[in-house]
Amino acid sequence: MTNDRDARKREAAMAAVAMVEDGMVVGLGTGSTAAFAIDGLIARVRAGLRIVGIPTSERSAKQARDGGIALTDFAHHPRVDLTIDGADEIARDSLDLIKGLGGALLREKIVAAASDRLVIIADEPKLLARLGETVPLPVEIVAFGWETTAARLVKLGARPILRKAPDGAAFHTDGGNLILDCHFGAIADPARLEQDLSATIGVVETGLFIGMATTALVATPGGIVRLDR
Ligand code: A5P
Repeated sequence: MTNDRDARKREAAMAAVAMVEDGMVVGLGTGSTAAFAIDGLIARVRAGLRIVGIPTSERSAKQARDGGIALTDFAHHPRVDLTIDGADEIARDSLDLIKGLGGALLREKIVAAASDRLVIIADEPKLLARLGETVPLPVEIVAFGWETTAARLVKLGARPILRKAPDGAAFHTDGGNLILDCHFGAIADPARLEQDLSATIGVVETGLFIGMATTALVATPGGIVRLDR
């Protein structure tokens, strides 16, 4: 089962890698699906493709650097031509997303916002009618006073759970912040929720990506389904 899912994730990743052209600035996503895409890009770079990458996490930066992809930053390249990233859920009609179960949502959103195209790669179980049906919404918050931020999120209807690292200590993001995994159930109005969360004191960023994805490549048993916004 896991191997099937991995095979599908790899298929979606390879379809996105095929969209990358010589000379592009490429945003490098984070997570198990994005890691397949980075592997695919490494293979193409070894075959002569010339790109520079902007990674969305320390993990992806290491994978890309170790594989020989030249990395850049926004001081040198203020715009990204195309970003390839995974998602935890994709809303079928709008291509709105929940991201951040891998812990990289803040850098992912900064890179997505600077990208001309955001191509999301996923397997079929992540494509849903409504967001929030299968996963909690990750919300990145500052560590100071996090209990008070969590209490404010409860007032917005969330059941927040502080994310823990495997050793049981609080998980810290690449930016040194905490994550609250917020259970809302199916989210009726993601754009409104995003506004309310963003206006909450202590919140750094949310895993709701509204109107950002331009394309989703979803691997199904019948092949890749491409959805464009
Ligand atoms: C990382 O923080 C996330 O946004 C990932 O892109 C998302 O969790 C998807 O990860 P997988 O590809 O591992 O499911």
